[in-house]
Amino acid sequence: MSNQKAQIFLDIQRTIAPISPLLFGGFAEHMGRCIYEGIYDPASPHADERGLRTDVIAALREQAYTVIRYPGGNFLSGYNWLDGVGPKDQRPRRRDLAWQSLETNQFGTNEFMEFCAAINAAPMLGVNMGTGDIQSAANLVDYCNTPEGTYWSDLRIKHGYPKPHNVRYWCVGNEMDGPWQIGHLDAVAYGNKALEAAKMMKWLDPTIETVLCGSSGDGMPTYPDWDRIVLEIAWEHVNYHSMHYYVNNNAGDTASYLASAVRFERFVDTMEGTLRYVKARRRSTHNVYLSWDEWQVWHSIGSPLGGRWTEAPHLAEDIYNLEDALVVAQWLNVFLRKSHVLKIACVAQIVNVISWLHTRRDALLKQPSFYVFKLVSNLARGDALDVLVKAPLVETKQYGEVPMLDVSASFDAETQQGALFVVNRSQTETLTTDIIWQSDAPRQVTGAYQVAGTDVKAVNTYEHPDTVVSRQITVGPIEGNTLSLRLPPLSFTVISTR
Ligand code: AHR
Repeated sequence: MSNQKAQIFLDIQRTIAPISPLLFGGFAEHMGRCIYEGIYDPASPHADERGLRTDVIAALREQAYTVIRYPGGNFLSGYNWLDGVGPKDQRPRRRDLAWQSLETNQFGTNEFMEFCAAINAAPMLGVNMGTGDIQSAANLVDYCNTPEGTYWSDLRIKHGYPKPHNVRYWCVGNEMDGPWQIGHLDAVAYGNKALEAAKMMKWLDPTIETVLCGSSGDGMPTYPDWDRIVLEIAWEHVNYHSMHYYVNNNAGDTASYLASAVRFERFVDTMEGTLRYVKARRRSTHNVYLSWDEWQVWHSIGSPLGGRWTEAPHLAEDIYNLEDALVVAQWLNVFLRKSHVLKIACVAQIVNVISWLHTRRDALLKQPSFYVFKLVSNLARGDALDVLVKAPLVETKQYGEVPMLDVSASFDAETQQGALFVVNRSQTETLTTDIIWQSDAPRQVTGAYQVAGTDVKAVNTYEHPDTVVSRQITVGPIEGNTLSLRLPPLSFTVISTR
């Protein structure tokens, strides 16, 4: 072990773009125990009169989610939204082919709106482009957003919701590039169908913003042609292009895993290049941005996920450790660094299914990455800053040499609040790091927190829930324009200033 040094240069004038609040979104799917026993569990002692889990709601509010995508996911492509509205005792029980589970439909669009209101998040609804047709997609917009006086809006009113839900964000299908998708289409067929659906949806409500299905990851054989083709077809009628991505350390290569930001950035860069190409080719003045609406560490990806035709089966209830939390921190850093093109992001998923929040009927567990997300979603405000980092390098098998530090920063000119987010991805080196403000140094540090540990595999359990949490740390004062920090290996450090 040696005492190595690093420098981080900040300049509040050197901005990237305003940070979209929608980068701190989540995804809730009818899959496993995300909805049933996660969000909605009338049998839990923590349920309110509507069956919503109050402890889960409190945790989600702590995390300051701004938008929630629903109802899927692969589930979406076999879902008839009409099954989930109206009197609960008349809603059909159906087989969900995506997850081979039994769907009771006790939770549907209107319950989802109540849930979003309870956590102060905007709803982002998906329309079914698998078994669903463009008419049913348009009908859902009419049902949700027309104030009154049409068949569909009057039906909503009859169902007990006199005010329109005013849903602004709409996903036109889910992962339609994947052969696993119910009703999977090739790029041209999907592009045409999405275009026609989006047209009808926007004719019904011109204020809505639509999200096109992008590639389900950079490993898809059709990537990135899929993205170019669907964008070329539907460009003028969409506002966002979706990205989905899951990672894990199943290869047991921690050094490369802890450099995952390199891969995340490459994915965004390719998608950004595709957007620019299509915009130029179409001679368009219209802009399309990126919506990274599924992202997460997923260890059990690829394992059989059948629910054996049961209700709320335990699916993909992954256990997350410190190294996963450090990867999540890098993901969020990338969101800030790419905030000029990335405007929406939704972690998949918000509870129980590939989630850092886990429920038992009477208890709730917060896994390490919960604390990372909470810090960033609560503190990253204003503009993302273009940070200059000088740090020693660490060798990785997958990406060659990468800097030991992965950094992002924000500054809110209105409140004068700044925030700095630093991952030390080294497994051995403490870095003495000078934070140097090249202009307008803040007067004081208003908060300093760390998620860190010595064991990359450390986890939280119901018995020991506080093994990896965020802890307040003490840091020296800002002297002149410099703050000196000691960043331990395997750490995520957050500094807020004013
Ligand atoms: O989030 C779990 C699943 O992962 C989603 O249903 C699907 O879109 C993706 O493949």
